[in-house]
Amino acid sequence: MIKNKTIYQCQTCGHASPKWLGKCPSCEAWNSFVEERQEGVKNLAKSPPSDAPVPIADITVGEEDRIGTGISELDRVLGGGIVSGSLTLIGGDPGIGKSTIVLQMLQGIYIANAGISSPALYVSGEESLKQIKLRSNRLGLGDVPVNVLSETCLENILDCVRRSKPSVIVIDSVQTIYTMELPSAPGSVGQVRECAAKLMHFAKKSSVPVFLVGHVTKEGAIAGPRVLEHIVDTVLYFEGERGHAYRILRAVKNRFGSTNEIGVFEMQEGGLKEITNPSELFLAERPESASGTIVVSTIEGTRPLMVELQALVTQSNFGTPRRTGIGVDLNRVNLLVAVLEKIGGLHLGNMDIFLNVVGGLKVSEPAFDLGIVISMASSFRDVLIGPDVLVFGEVGLSGEVRAVSQAEIRLKEGEKIGFKRAVLPLANLRRLNFKPAMELTGVRHIDEALGVIVSR
Ligand code: TYD
Ligand code: MG
Repeated sequence: MIKNKTIYQCQTCGHASPKWLGKCPSCEAWNSFVEERQEGVKNLAKSPPSDAPVPIADITVGEEDRIGTGISELDRVLGGGIVSGSLTLIGGDPGIGKSTIVLQMLQGIYIANAGISSPALYVSGEESLKQIKLRSNRLGLGDVPVNVLSETCLENILDCVRRSKPSVIVIDSVQTIYTMELPSAPGSVGQVRECAAKLMHFAKKSSVPVFLVGHVTKEGAIAGPRVLEHIVDTVLYFEGERGHAYRILRAVKNRFGSTNEIGVFEMQEGGLKEITNPSELFLAERPESASGTIVVSTIEGTRPLMVELQALVTQSNFGTPRRTGIGVDLNRVNLLVAVLEKIGGLHLGNMDIFLNVVGGLKVSEPAFDLGIVISMASSFRDVLIGPDVLVFGEVGLSGEVRAVSQAEIRLKEGEKIGFKRAVLPLANLRRLNFKPAMELTGVRHIDEALGVIVSR
C-alpha cells in the first residue's frame, strides 16, 4: 500500500513543494503555503470504451440548449443564458451580493421558463435554512419552487441530487464543501479542486447546469485555487466598491460566449436591480464646472459605456510625488505622465497625481489614454472642459493619437445620451461612414487634442 504523505501547496497558484516555503517560487506570493495531504498514486483503471467519433458536421446544437435566467444582464454575461451541463463559477468579495444574485437567478429561471419541470436546488454550506428564507423574503421571492439544502459533504449533496433531479444546482460556496475522499480541510486547494472536478463530471454527464459560488482572497485570487478557473467552463467576477451601490458582473472566462462582457446592477433594499443604461448611471452626479473631469467612451465587451474620469494634479509636499489611480491601470498612467512631460511640455515631475474612474468601474482599454491625458492637463492648468464633450483614443509614446476599435458604437452611444462634441483620433474620423449629430474633432497628436480642449 502506498502511504499518504504530506505536501505543501501554494494557496494562490497551487505550486506544490515537499517542505514549507515562505515565498512561492512560482507566483512569488508570501506566506501562501498550506499543508496538504496527498493521496498515494493509484493505478488508474481503464475507462469503459467511449462512443465512436462523430463528424463535427453531424453534431447538432439547438437553441434549447440555453436556459434564460430571466435577468437580462446576467444572460448577456453568460453569453445568452445558461448552457445545459455547464459549470459556472461566481467569484467576488464577501458581502458583494453573490448569494443574492444566485437566489434571484433561481427565481428568474422559474419565471422565464414556464415549463421547467423540476425545482432548482440551492445548497448552502454557509447559511442556515432560516437565514436563506429570510433573504428570500427580503427579495420578495414568495413561493418559488427552490429546494434548499444545508449540507457540506459533497457525497451527500450528490446523493440528494440523484434523488431529486433538480433543473439547476447552486453550491454556495465551493470553499465550504468537502469530499470524503480527501483528508484535508474544506477550503484547501485539494478539496476545492477535487469538489469542482467531481461537480464538473456530474454536470457534463447529467446535463444539469451547476453554479459554484467562490470567495476571493485578499490578493484577488479566488480563494485557494486559480486552478479552479481552469476546471470550470465560465468564470464570472462580481466587482464593486464598498460604499457604492453599483455591482458589475464580469465574465473573465467563458467557453460559451464572449469574455469581458459586463452586467451592471444596483444593490437595493429588495435585492439586485438591473441597470440597462449604465452610462446614465455613471454620469449622474457629474460636476459641471470642475477642472480635471472628463467623459470618456469605453467599450466593455460589445457594450459602449460613458464614464466620468477625474484627475487631481497638485503640488507635492514629499520628495517623491504620489501617483494614485482608482479604476485605471497605474502603469499606463505613469507612461502617459511621461508623454505629457516630454512631448506635451507639462511639468508634472513634482506633482501628486490622483485619478479616479467614478462609479467603481475598472477600465483597462487603450482608448482611455486620451481621456487620462486630457483630464490631467485640465487639472494641471485648471481649465474647465465642457460637460458636453466626449473623448476617446489611444496615445502612443511619441504623443501620437492612434485609432481605436468600434468608434461608431462609441459615438452613437454619446449621441444618444446628448453629447454635443467629440474629440477622437483623426484616423477614426476619416473612416467613419455615418454622420452623428455632434461636432467631431479628429486629432493626430496630443498637442492638437490639448489645443482643442484644454487651452480654451
Ligand atoms: P450577499 O449576497 O450575502 O453577499 P455574498 O454572498 O457575496 O457574501 O449580500 C450581502 C449584502 O447585500 C449585505 O451587505 C446586505 C446587502 N443586501 C441588500 O442591500 N439588499 C438586499 O436585498 C439583500 C438580500 C442584501
Ligand atoms: Mg453568501
